[in-house]
Amino acid sequence: MKKYLVIGNPIEHSLSPQLHNFWIKENNIKADYNRRKINKDEIKSLILNVRDKKINGLNVTVPYKKEIINHLDELTHEANKTQSVNTVFLDGDKVTGHNTDISGFELAIKKIDFDVKEKKILILGAGGVVPSIIFALYKMEARKISVMNRTRSKTENLKHLFKEIVVLDWGEIPNSDMIINATSVGLKKEDKINLDFSKISNNKLFYDIIYNPEKTNFLKTGKDLGNKTENGKMMFIFQAIAAFKIWHGLEPKINNDVIKLLKK
Ligand code: ATR
Repeated sequence: MKKYLVIGNPIEHSLSPQLHNFWIKENNIKADYNRRKINKDEIKSLILNVRDKKINGLNVTVPYKKEIINHLDELTHEANKTQSVNTVFLDGDKVTGHNTDISGFELAIKKIDFDVKEKKILILGAGGVVPSIIFALYKMEARKISVMNRTRSKTENLKHLFKEIVVLDWGEIPNSDMIINATSVGLKKEDKINLDFSKISNNKLFYDIIYNPEKTNFLKTGKDLGNKTENGKMMFIFQAIAAFKIWHGLEPKINNDVIKLLKK
């Protein structure tokens, strides 16, 4: 029986086990996938378990996507450029970190036929997932990426990774083709971002990384102002598919049963 884990803190909310175990069963794979809340000092021994094949793969979530890098033997190009790892696997004898949030975001955007090329993008937030989004947007040839965070100093690390980004003060909303909420505001249904989006003309795309709840107030506002909206559900599914492919060598299917798993 192969063993997989998603690690983070908190971890109760993670729907990765539902998704992976559904596909494991569907493909008759002898494996199980669990969630584990860990402290920082447990990362080292978990990585040793991957090296010894006692654990066959890890997904990593907030707040350890960067921290885990200190314990790995190798990083893929994407993980290195974003300094963010969400998937760990053994490549030969090297414990390797990869970042599937990038392709997850890219595939989600392509699925809704939004063409990022030459577009102006505004990102709200500077947390763990933002480097992956920026990397994917530049790969898709975005023209200009602006980032604002409530705590401006946290954007310094982003500027270090991506010199071309424009850092704005919180609340300074320029007209943009796509506005991405990458803050945690909206995880609670009543959460409201204290920003005025009325300067954004209509027919733009409001994208929220959050998928649960399905319609955050950010997306409701975008819709009321006459824009397209999309939540983070497909990004989450596509990042999981990419991890599944690395570990099991086959591509799981997206169908209504899979989508229903995330409607909790
Ligand atoms: P981490 O910062 O540990 O990576 P995250 O969930 O990935 O955690 O990021 C949370 C993001 O939501 C941050 O950008 C955070 O802004 P701060 O850096 O200022 O904390 C943002 N955020 C959380 N609550 C917020 C609020 N009430 N208003 C605006 N931004 C908020």
